Formats: sequence, C-alpha cells, structure tokens
Amino acid sequence: MKKPTKKLIKLPPYLFEAINILKCDAYARKQDVIDLGMGNPDMPASEHIVEALTDTVTNHPKTHRYPQAKGMLKLRKAIADWYTRTYKVDLNPENEVLVLVGSKEGIAHMSMAYLDPGDYALVPDPSYLVHKNGVILAGGEIYDMPLLEENGYLPDLDAVPRSIAKKAKMMFISYPNNPTTAVVKGLSFFKKVVAFAKKYDIIVCHDFAYSEVVFDGYKSPSFMETPGAREVGLEFHSFSKTYCMAGWRLGFVVGNAEILKPLEKLKSYLDFGVFTAIQLAGVKALNGSQKCVETMNAEYMRRRDKFVKELNKIGWEVDSPEATMYLWSKLPEGFRHMSSLEFCELLILKTGIAMAPGVAFGSNGEGYVRMALVTHYNRFHDAVLRLNKFLKEERK
Ligand SMILES: Cc1ncc(COP(=O)(O)O)c(C=O)c1O
Repeated sequence: MKKPTKKLIKLPPYLFEAINILKCDAYARKQDVIDLGMGNPDMPASEHIVEALTDTVTNHPKTHRYPQAKGMLKLRKAIADWYTRTYKVDLNPENEVLVLVGSKEGIAHMSMAYLDPGDYALVPDPSYLVHKNGVILAGGEIYDMPLLEENGYLPDLDAVPRSIAKKAKMMFISYPNNPTTAVVKGLSFFKKVVAFAKKYDIIVCHDFAYSEVVFDGYKSPSFMETPGAREVGLEFHSFSKTYCMAGWRLGFVVGNAEILKPLEKLKSYLDFGVFTAIQLAGVKALNGSQKCVETMNAEYMRRRDKFVKELNKIGWEVDSPEATMYLWSKLPEGFRHMSSLEFCELLILKTGIAMAPGVAFGSNGEGYVRMALVTHYNRFHDAVLRLNKFLKEERK
C-alpha cells in the first residue's frame, strides 16, 4: 500500500476522536449523552436567513450555476458595509474582502498560500486546531507561542527568539479566544502585534470567529481598527457562530489587498466558492435585523450563568467568560493527577457527559477542559447533578 504524504502523517492525532468513539459507545449503550464537546452551535439560523436561502433556491434557478470563486460583489459589499457600521473600518469590496467556504478553509489555505517547506509560522498554544494543522499541511514549521493563564492568555511576543521572528512569515492570533475564552480590552495588545509584525515583516492572521458572541456589554475590538493593521494583516470571520450557520459553510476574510491576492489565487485553483443562494442568505444576515444575534447571546448567557453558578456550588470553580460559547477550566480538584484526556474519557464513561480535553488544543492546554454551551438550558442542571455524583465518587 502506498503511504499518504509525510505532511498528512505529521498531523497530530485528533484527540477529539477518542472522545467521539466513547460518545458513540455511550449512544450505543442508550446512555443519555450530554454533549459539551464540540463547538457546534445547537440553535438554528434565524427564519429570515433560512427564507432568503429557500426563496433564492426556488425562485432564482440561475443561482444553481457555479458561483464566482472570490464571492459575489453583493456579499463583498455587504461585508464592507458591515465593517463600516460595526468598526468604522472602510474596506474596498473589490480587493480587500474575500468570501470563504467557512473561515476554517481560508485559514488552512492561507498557510498553503504562503508557507514553503521549512518556513515558520508563529502559532498560539493552545489554539483552534486549524491554526497549527494548516501550517503542517503546508509543510511549514510551527513556533508555539504559549497562552498562559498568568498572561491573560496573550502570547508574550518578547519571548519569541529573534532568530525565529526573523524567519517567521506569518502569525496567528484570535480574540475572543477558543479554547481559553480570553478577550482583549482596547487595542494595546493589537498595537504590540502590529509593531512586532512590522519589525519582522510578518503577516498577521487574526481569527475573529467569535467577534459577535459577546456578553455583559463587552464589545470585541477588530484587529483592523488598530493603526497599521491593514499594512500587515488579515482578519477572518465566520457566519457559523454569529448567525448559527455552521453547516452552511460561509465565512470571509478582510484586510490588506496584496496579502489577500495569493490566497484568492490559490482558492481559484481549488474551489468555486460558496453556493450563490448561501451567499445571498449571508447578505440577508449581515444587512437584516441583528436581533437574532442578541437572542442567541442571551441564550448562551443564560446557560453560562446557570452552569457556572451550579458548578461553583458543587465545588468545581469555573470562571464566567465574557465571550465565546465555552467555559475553560482547570480540571477539578482531586483530578489533577490525571491528564485532561484521561479525565474526559472517564467522565463520558461514568456520566455520559462529553467535554473537550484541553490538550487537544495544544500542550499548554493540558490540565484544562473546555465545555461548549451547546445544549438546551434545561440540560445543564442534569449535567451538574451527574457531575456532583461523579466528583464525589471518583475524586482522589
Ligand atoms: C477560533 C475558530 N476559528 C474558526 C472556526 C471555524 O469556523 P468556520 O465554521 O467558519 O469554518 C472555529 C470553529 O469552531 C473556531 O472556533
């Protein structure tokens, strides 16, 4: 048998798989599974967005043809207008906006567009998996920037060795952050990033997938608002979380036109872009009422408040995040002798509750778990009852 590429073999084991297998076993045993593992929004897209899709599919058959790879101008304009409204950042829809088949696709292809074998990318650890895996698939080298609790989960740019910084072609950052839920306040961190990127000629890729999943009046700043950011970087967005459109595969990237060109070129050789009816539904989402985003955030907040309060009551101290749809927590006391994967495996076996082991996001995630708030509000009470029993019985 022929082997797949060395790049593919080099990809780290997909640690969610171990949990997924146990989850399937639990379903097979007819166990009542509470799935807080994957960041897969459980709420559907809003009615007006669904209607835009079905109306286009039914009444505009021309949209069934191949779409334009870079995204239709109407959507690129809607994106540019949304940026002006939301961040007071003016973008040229002709060359500073590119539609993606979900932001994951664009992030992975960005590495492939820029990295030759041996080229370095600076990547946070822990991070959303594709930040690293895209680099590996491109044949690039990863320099891990640890995200540590004591630094507010911000990378310490001064700790990046000069020799690496000089070699690095690109870096990834992402706030609000998955998995740590960290946010940035104001632009001071982004200003440091811009100065660093200019000093070493590094392309900055800001993954802004959770820009709108924000709570308690917190507003997440756009990297693009930072003076100089448009000279050095890009910002990736997703409709998946903002509009509960994860399965629709619609995202976009904005920023420096010259930096975008190679990504657009690569994509034009690989895909035809997103189905036009979905792009038009995206236009509706951006231009229509944003009430659905408020409703979604209110629901995540309701779940967050209930779960955090009840977890703290049973002695598992968990912080309340200002953004994202996750809780990020150290393993509970009495379980810290275990790895995060062992903990999550035992947890699903004994309770039917699936969580994501922190190590799945990188070695600095070891000792933590991520809980996604993607199940019905009423299930969190049940989850805590099971967890209480589990903690009492299994604690060492
Ligand atoms: C930080 C981050 N970026 C990107 C994505 C992927 O989003 P999309 O559905 O747009 O590909 C996710 C999905 O969970 C994410 O957590």
